[in-house]
Amino acid sequence: MKIESLNAWEILDSRGRPAVAVEARLSDGSVGQAQTPSGASTGKHEAVELRDGDAARYGGKGVLRAVSHVKGEIAAAVTGLDAGDQAGLDRCMIELDGTANKGRLGANAILGVSCAVARAAAVSRGVELYRSLPASGRPLTLPVPMVNIFSGGHHAAHNIEFQDFLALPLGLPRFSEALRAAAAVHTAAYELCVEAGYVLTGVADEGGWGPRLKSNEEALALLTRAIERAGYRPGEDVAIALDVASTHFYKDGVYHLRSEGRRLDADGMISQLAGWCARYPVLSIEDGLAEDDWPHWPELTRRLGGRAQLIGDDFFTTNLARVERGIREGSANAVLVKMNQIGTLTETLEVSGRALAAGWRAVISARSGETEDSFLADLAIASGAGQIKVGSVTRSERLAKWNRLLELEAKGGIEYARLRFS
Ligand code: PGA
Ligand code: ZN
Repeated sequence: MKIESLNAWEILDSRGRPAVAVEARLSDGSVGQAQTPSGASTGKHEAVELRDGDAARYGGKGVLRAVSHVKGEIAAAVTGLDAGDQAGLDRCMIELDGTANKGRLGANAILGVSCAVARAAAVSRGVELYRSLPASGRPLTLPVPMVNIFSGGHHAAHNIEFQDFLALPLGLPRFSEALRAAAAVHTAAYELCVEAGYVLTGVADEGGWGPRLKSNEEALALLTRAIERAGYRPGEDVAIALDVASTHFYKDGVYHLRSEGRRLDADGMISQLAGWCARYPVLSIEDGLAEDDWPHWPELTRRLGGRAQLIGDDFFTTNLARVERGIREGSANAVLVKMNQIGTLTETLEVSGRALAAGWRAVISARSGETEDSFLADLAIASGAGQIKVGSVTRSERLAKWNRLLELEAKGGIEYARLRFS
């Protein structure tokens, strides 16, 4: 089946900001759609999401230029290509764009086409999307969910510095049981906040709670109690994962933990994280150091890598060259995988595949600005990554992904990825 035509339009994401929607039509009449996400704590090394810059529309955040690139240049270049050859399609768009960061046509335009064609190809083959995505060479697995409970940083009006405090239900036997545990922890966390006198008027960007806590450590203590209150054993049934997203409070070699009353150099920051890992059931830390703090990441990994997963998000930006350097230098032991950080499905799968081949872990991740597109759920299964992070158990842009995974668990035939930490 060949690509016959592309259409695209501007939609809104979960934060009320424009995003790109793409529809691909194939020669056999099969149709697929995709919607692109957008981040708030955007890494400096990410592929470029093209925004119009026209202040009269959406404060300059419109995506009409990206939309017109899909309907114009990209459609002209990819019409007639084999929709089953994902790598060929993605290569064609990378060459057409001609920049290192997809800044000319826009990573939002390119990714929208990459995913819409993948969907149309699945329709054409008459199989579920995850069965149609390029094979990763790994067994298909239902991923362990990493579920946001408390938000801070850019996602919750800077109440505390760390961006996410997540439940990692690693000791449950099935995806649905793991998600149920996380939902119970989310409810227990709400009750604890109310009892402590915090006012909660809504949820943060990714559906977690965003109380004005006094410190990051208070969030760790509350989350540990919430796991217990929900009836689970902290660290065994449900552990804690952190997204420190430290780049946003790092300046000139100093990590500014204002809520903690501390200004730390990298060694101090590593010791601080080590202390929290010792006192709380933290088994996963994302962006514990800043995106360009290459000299100190290996020390973080040496100190904590024996018991915790150390993930690079802004640090690696789903970029193969950065991941290769990280593997060479022993900088981390896991990578966060966000499709729009790199801009094509093929490159995304290359990064998760490379990380897993090196003995690292990989976590397929959504962005803070999401849509009702559930593509990520199928990607997590097809990649064999074993973990997925899409926010909390509220807000339908998050539930689109969880509910798709529940559907695929119910339909059967896919093993659940058990996570083991030594
Ligand atoms: P972002 O953050 O989508 O706002 O960049 C999500 C994350 O860091 O996991
Ligand atoms: Zn992150």
